[in-house]
Amino acid sequence: MRTENEIKYLMKAIDAFQRRLLVISPDFQILAANKPIADLPDTELVGQYCHEIFYDRSSPCNNCAVRVALEDKRPSLCPKPETLLNQGLMPCYYAYPIYNNGEIEAFVSMDFDIPTIALLEEKLKRSNAFLENLLQSAVDCVVAADMDGKIFLFNESAVELFGYTLEEATGSLNVRNIYPGDGAYEVMKILRGKTCGGNGRLKTFHTRVLAKNGEQIPISLYASILLEDGQEIATIGFFHDLRKRIKIRKELENTQVQLLQAEKMGSLGKLAAGVAHQINNPLGGIILFAKLILEEYDLVEGAKSDLQRILKDADRCRNIVKELLEFTRQTRHLMQPNDLNRALQRTLFLLESQALFQNIKVKQDLLTTLPLVICDAQQMNHLFMNLILNAAQAMDGKGTLALKTTANTDRNRVRIEISDTGPGISDHVLPHMFDPFFTTKEEGKGTGLGLSLAYNIVENHGGSISAQNRPAKGASFIIELPIAQKAKQGDERGK
Ligand SMILES: Nc1ncnc2c1ncn2[C@@H]1O[C@H](COP(=O)(O)OP(=O)(O)OP(=O)(O)O)[C@@H](O)[C@H]1O
Ligand SMILES: [Mg+2]
Repeated sequence: MRTENEIKYLMKAIDAFQRRLLVISPDFQILAANKPIADLPDTELVGQYCHEIFYDRSSPCNNCAVRVALEDKRPSLCPKPETLLNQGLMPCYYAYPIYNNGEIEAFVSMDFDIPTIALLEEKLKRSNAFLENLLQSAVDCVVAADMDGKIFLFNESAVELFGYTLEEATGSLNVRNIYPGDGAYEVMKILRGKTCGGNGRLKTFHTRVLAKNGEQIPISLYASILLEDGQEIATIGFFHDLRKRIKIRKELENTQVQLLQAEKMGSLGKLAAGVAHQINNPLGGIILFAKLILEEYDLVEGAKSDLQRILKDADRCRNIVKELLEFTRQTRHLMQPNDLNRALQRTLFLLESQALFQNIKVKQDLLTTLPLVICDAQQMNHLFMNLILNAAQAMDGKGTLALKTTANTDRNRVRIEISDTGPGISDHVLPHMFDPFFTTKEEGKGTGLGLSLAYNIVENHGGSISAQNRPAKGASFIIELPIAQKAKQGDERGK
């Protein structure tokens, strides 16, 4: 027998149970009810027919668990639509017979059944799995960490971007390690401030993250602080890799520069070609008639040597015109083995007669056995022209220009060094000098396109270009270009 105390607690326990529990007679009258929800006072329930009070029916419901239990004489389960769960109605899922001397005296009817709860749990699990899947397969990286910085969410894109395995990331990696320097601290400071997106939120913040291999990757960050009961419990960040976007933007800029430069060179070329053609005709006349006089008249020795001088200079003029035409020839890019010594000398030949070069000493140290390079000759002309002009401008027309070519056959590269004795490159200029439109020259004297074009040309040829200050004085530009594989030095030279 149960003690009164025990009965009292059992009653309290039944009421504390947050589900409705009814005792129903075999003729569907409510005999007793617990009081889980303050909807209907039990006095109103007791004595009522369950189907009347809950479903407004004059007869028991079609899928009534009590009726089935009565017929089968054992517990019955009649699942009703889930929509009835947690509503004021009594969904009567489960009916359990109460026996007295072997006869069914009444039934316990409950508004829940274990399988339904399991179903709900399953649904919850499934929706959690869906969310997990969503985060895992997001194109952007998703990283979440607790307030100590310990990472607990690191999706597949994050594994790819940062180079850590999931185990490494969630095992020992701290969110501070995925930013260079004090990056994580900076992000938290901004997150807690009001400037970027509002309190606890950060929108399209551009920064860099640190990959496992030490690479710093530019990203755009969306982040927020997760709160629970007003307490910060975690941070979540969505990182979008900006490398591709930056590359496309750079390529666009480069194309723009190339177009501008091509336009500039194009119109210069047209002008030069026009002038050259016009000079060619009178030049032909001068040479022809000078030769005729030399051959047909018996001249005194002085006049003869004067005429020969005229012929020599006219010949030089013809060479200049020829080189100028060659230099400005508008061709489609034509990649073929070229001798870069020859390209350097052609550029020098054209520039030497300029006023700017009158007081510049040119020192040439060209490797006679320089291997050929597969390149577009016209682009090489433009490359050397820009670098030599820069050197002459930097020296303000006075100093020494040194041209040196060497080959490193182990690395399969030829190396061209163009140095000057100008003031050198100051620290604030060095990081920007290859940027388009960067110039320190006064307006009208420089557009800032020369070195960016040089950079593009060298890069398009699979080479590299760098600038440095010389130990003594002045600047030095070093270009390295790949040696032509098949064309062996000497074989094709001068063809
Ligand atoms: N040999 C050099 N010595 C010192 N500084 C140099 C030298 N060559 C280039 N620079 C610096 O780099 C800047 C960029 O050079 P770049 O050739 O791109 O443009 P620019 O010469 O100013 O103009 P542009 O070539 O379009 O006429 C120059 O303005 C100059 O400050
Ligand atoms: Mg320049």
